[in-house]
Amino acid sequence: MLEYIDSHAHYDAEQFDPDREELLNRLHEDGVRNIVNMGCNLERSRLSVEYAEKYPFMYAAVGIHPEDVEGTPADYLDTLKKWAVLPKTVAIGEIGLDYHYEGYDPDLQKRIFREQLDLAEQLCLPVVIHSRDATEDTMSILRERGKVNGVMHCFSGSAETAKQVLALGLNISFTGVLTFKNARRAIEALEAVPMDRLMLETDCPYMAPEPNRGKRCDSGMIVHIIQKIAEVKGVSPELVAKQTTENTLKLFWKMNA
Ligand code: NI
Repeated sequence: MLEYIDSHAHYDAEQFDPDREELLNRLHEDGVRNIVNMGCNLERSRLSVEYAEKYPFMYAAVGIHPEDVEGTPADYLDTLKKWAVLPKTVAIGEIGLDYHYEGYDPDLQKRIFREQLDLAEQLCLPVVIHSRDATEDTMSILRERGKVNGVMHCFSGSAETAKQVLALGLNISFTGVLTFKNARRAIEALEAVPMDRLMLETDCPYMAPEPNRGKRCDSGMIVHIIQKIAEVKGVSPELVAKQTTENTLKLFWKMNA
């Protein structure tokens, strides 16, 4: 049985309301060693912390997602900090820039992104970065800092961008997008990422890999992503699971497997 870590999930999403507890316990028995639940706003960060308290195999990230910056209270950093120092909080995330939908406020997104990068640095926590249709601005904010401890999640950029992200010190993680028919760009990016910088994630309930595309995703579907990475890298699925587990433990738990 493959054992692996889902480094980025959203089990607070309403899609899991009917069967969350049963599903999580079954996934853990089926090989999901750990799950890191992401924060997207204050309420959902609180839920990440709550699940981490409830399930021994779950850990929390807390943060404000770029699509959720509107209406963030002035004292949000104090609230995040209170949760960030808890023993089962392993990262500040997901944070970043998202220019995909019309009506976004780039200045507000950049401010909240920078403030959370500062918070992570201050607390010596890694960051989980979300960047969609905003590569240029995301990269320039990260370059201001020289080195960044964290991971670029749901990577969708080019191989060239992947190399720049790696040069900043960040790991890169891929979702089910790798398994899609039009994934050529993602595959080329994957080829540019060395095995010791690679992480696994589902971003569930979104991004279900083939053959489940369009369905509700859960952490168990990572096996399809593992399979694809193994194929592209020419190694065994066991090695992909083992190496990505080590990389994730090193980043989030600062330890070796
Ligand atoms: Ni996400």
